[in-house]
Amino acid sequence: MSQLSVVIVATDGEQRSVLQVLVDGTTVGRVVHTCGSFPMSGNDPVVRRVQNAAPDVVLVDIPQDNPTLALRAIELLHQELPEIALFAVGSMTQPQVIVNSMRAGAREFIERPPTTTDLLEAFVRLTSAQRKTQREENRGKVFLVVNAKGGSGATTVAVNLALALQSSHGNTALVDIAPLGHAALHMNLRPAFSIADAIRNLHRLDGSLLESFITRHSGGLQVLAGTNIPAINEPNTAEYARLFDLLVGHFRYVVVDASSRIDPATRLVSNLSENVLLIAHADVASLWSASRIRQFLSEAGGREHTRLVLNRFRKIPGFHESDAETAAGAKLLWKVPNQYFAVSTAIDRGVPLMEQNHTEIARSFQGLADRLTENDLDVKRKAWSLFKTV
Ligand SMILES: Nc1ncnc2c1ncn2[C@@H]1O[C@H](COP(=O)(O)OP(=O)(O)OP(=O)(O)O)[C@@H](O)[C@H]1O
Ligand SMILES: [Mg+2]
Repeated sequence: MSQLSVVIVATDGEQRSVLQVLVDGTTVGRVVHTCGSFPMSGNDPVVRRVQNAAPDVVLVDIPQDNPTLALRAIELLHQELPEIALFAVGSMTQPQVIVNSMRAGAREFIERPPTTTDLLEAFVRLTSAQRKTQREENRGKVFLVVNAKGGSGATTVAVNLALALQSSHGNTALVDIAPLGHAALHMNLRPAFSIADAIRNLHRLDGSLLESFITRHSGGLQVLAGTNIPAINEPNTAEYARLFDLLVGHFRYVVVDASSRIDPATRLVSNLSENVLLIAHADVASLWSASRIRQFLSEAGGREHTRLVLNRFRKIPGFHESDAETAAGAKLLWKVPNQYFAVSTAIDRGVPLMEQNHTEIARSFQGLADRLTENDLDVKRKAWSLFKTV
């Protein structure tokens, strides 16, 4: 992720210093200027100073005892410098201040005092929104696969979805961030390196070093394997943000197997993803867990891009898809049939289902990949030209 330059506007000197340390701590944001007073009019020198600093983001601190001038400052800055993103930092116990700051033009309202994670998540949301508007078509799309409950089939879906994307479009990576990575086992790969090596070398990681940590599957899929030791030193979320920025610059599709890892790192990847595939079974406990996890992932204000995938699906009399959607709080994207023998043999032999063509379940994974890419411009174009030659 390219660094965001940040200006801090705060009348309280202590708060100004705290914010500066926290912003720099994200490593994604860098403070380029600080102001100790609020602008009072459009031609106030503070407005000029902010403009000259040319920041991507201005953080405006809203004092709890007197929010009026800070709110006015947000309004003025928004009027005078509409292209700069304004983040308000204030107390969550003052709902009217939250509403007024958003009306005045703040893009985010962050709890005061924030944590580095709060700020990082807000920065990530800004850059992913900017990416969308700039239509950076040369950057890859991330699909995050996460379990509603342990053993629901996240790894099976992630591995076969990645293989299907690779065979249709090429240039696909499978990244395993699960607490203990099983994806390589499903493909009978013996990786020499893992995601832990990529994170450890982040300070000097570039495209070619990244490639050296990747294991190539025979069909061309590139696998950044998971860790084989229950994590001791968990990377922080900023490290994940940097790693994924590199990955989307390199690959067209990045499938991430989080399996049952539900933590701020998974939430960060969820914020960077095109879609989150929440893998559940069609039973009450699984769908209940799905709804809790969907809520957790969207807590940081993420977009509503989580979709339900029902694995091991069988028709049950009286079961309606709309009931599953209501229970999970997410739209149903796909159903994968229940084929225990085929799936468990594929895992035990390390020969993924997508390599055993023509099975019903392989067709299902191909269908899922097609569904996820159907709106991609070049895929549409290809479909159109095929249609024309018929
Ligand atoms: N569509 C399916 N039909 C029948 N069995 C399945 C299906 N998908 C997965 N399974 C079975 O469920 C088990 C768990 O699969 P998998 O390892 O993909 O789950 P996971 O959710 O990644 O598990 P974990 O929580 O350990 O990461 C496997 O033994 C597999 O045989
Ligand atoms: Mg798994």
